[in-house]
Amino acid sequence: MGPTSIDPHLIVVFGATGDLFHRKLLPALFRLLERGVIDGRFRVLGVARRGDLDDASFRGLCERSLDQAGLTSREAARAAFVAALDYAQVQDGVAASYQALAERIAAIEDQHALPHHRIFYLSLPPQAFPSTIEGLGAVGLNRSEGTTRLVIEKPFGRDLASAKALNQLLHRWFDETQVYRIDHYLGKETVQNLFVFRFANALFEPVWNRDRIDNVQITVSEELGVESRAGYYEQAGALRDMVQNHLTQLLCLTAMEPPAQFEADAIRNEKVKVLRSIAPIADDDVVFGQYRPGTIEGAPVCGYLGEKGVAPTSTTETFVALRVSVSNWRWQGVPFYLRTGKRMPKRLSQITVSFRCPPVSMFQPFNTCVLSSNQLVITVQPDEGFDLSFEVKAPGEGMAMRSQRMQYRYHENFASLPDGYETLLADIVQGDQTLFVRADEVEKSWELFTPVLERPRAVHGYAAGSWGPAAAEQLVARHDQRWAQR
Ligand SMILES: NC(=O)c1ccc[n+]([C@@H]2O[C@H](COP(=O)([O-])OP(=O)(O)OC[C@H]3O[C@@H](n4cnc5c(N)ncnc54)[C@H](OP(=O)(O)O)[C@@H]3O)[C@@H](O)[C@H]2O)c1
Repeated sequence: MGPTSIDPHLIVVFGATGDLFHRKLLPALFRLLERGVIDGRFRVLGVARRGDLDDASFRGLCERSLDQAGLTSREAARAAFVAALDYAQVQDGVAASYQALAERIAAIEDQHALPHHRIFYLSLPPQAFPSTIEGLGAVGLNRSEGTTRLVIEKPFGRDLASAKALNQLLHRWFDETQVYRIDHYLGKETVQNLFVFRFANALFEPVWNRDRIDNVQITVSEELGVESRAGYYEQAGALRDMVQNHLTQLLCLTAMEPPAQFEADAIRNEKVKVLRSIAPIADDDVVFGQYRPGTIEGAPVCGYLGEKGVAPTSTTETFVALRVSVSNWRWQGVPFYLRTGKRMPKRLSQITVSFRCPPVSMFQPFNTCVLSSNQLVITVQPDEGFDLSFEVKAPGEGMAMRSQRMQYRYHENFASLPDGYETLLADIVQGDQTLFVRADEVEKSWELFTPVLERPRAVHGYAAGSWGPAAAEQLVARHDQRWAQR
């Protein structure tokens, strides 16, 4: 995953007028050039349906996006980068348009003597995935004399049937070795650090099991509401938007067995084994919620039903909490609690591993407070790092105890962390699929959550700015546990 000398590629980005390209992909590509991961021979062809753009005006748009990303220094490098950007219009579903695109690609490769290594990045709304895959395949853009890779953004399907149909379509034209399904959470340094933390430190492996761990909690909370994404969110909801992909990835990395090698398929095999071990999720192990009016950082905010573009009778969930059982030798009986929501008190992605309390407390007769369990808290964002809590004697008379935290923070030790998209793009050009979701993995995940989505549901209200509905507290309290963040 480190910088190496890589043959130049042509990166064809569909959706090059969109938010993701301008806010994330373009700055990430420029930083890769600055870091020397890619060199000045790389070219980018932006593609969209918009007809009023040509190469010059597209480059102008990209210059503004680089400014907005604060990438204003190194003028010469920037000018060379921008000069390597071109634009092509496609008409979605029109065969002649893809033929014209194929000719344009060939012309760019000829002009710049490129070795036909191509990356097609579908930064598109999901409804445009099938027609674009079909369009590329039908004109032979699924193969080249060099390598051809296809990158597909989330969401990958909206249930098991649609994910399977999309996989079938992909495999009609592309081999699985060509396909890079993005879950940008996997690009985060702290998520990758889970591999190192677990498998490069002998300290944790002996206690990473049902004998020592009481429960695992994964919380991904947002302060933001639905903002301008109501059109998409009304069709998705929190379970599709966050749980099926990001939280499930965090669960797999926390629960997986050590792979035989640090290699894409060895790692993905272990993740799939975790998904196969998860018992069907019972109705009373799921809580759906929707935010009501409340207060965020002291300011009043409206409820979900008051947001622009949301149906007044919408039952779309903006919060979900689940209890998941990984029924294998390592984890049998250890609940994994997953929780995500919008309009919660703060933006946080955190994994909390709570260890079992000592079997007997010899301090009981002296103790004035309850013995806490040791906790390992891995913070994925913000303020990336981890904390280990343990009990110490409170100074003074008697045997009173107090929980103390040992902290490690990335920013105190490393200057800056690369953006997740930077890491993922570097891996794509280097042909490393480790951090990408395999076809069977995405289907297993949908197999787990599709029945939950299809059941009739109660959606509990919760005040904006709270940690979710009371029913989510009861979900853990039923098993004598409580949320680490509440
Ligand atoms: N934005 C993010 O931070 C983010 C984060 C994670 C994942 N994603 C995923 O990334 C993808 C793109 O998101 P976005 O936020 O960039 O969306 P966006 O701002 O709506 O942009 C979509 C782009 O796709 C083009 N497009 C739309 N329909 C098309 C069609 N039928 N055929 C060809 N081009 C079409 C649009 O341009 P024209 O209308 O000119 O064609 C535009 O360039 C989505 O799948 C999203 O879920 C985005």
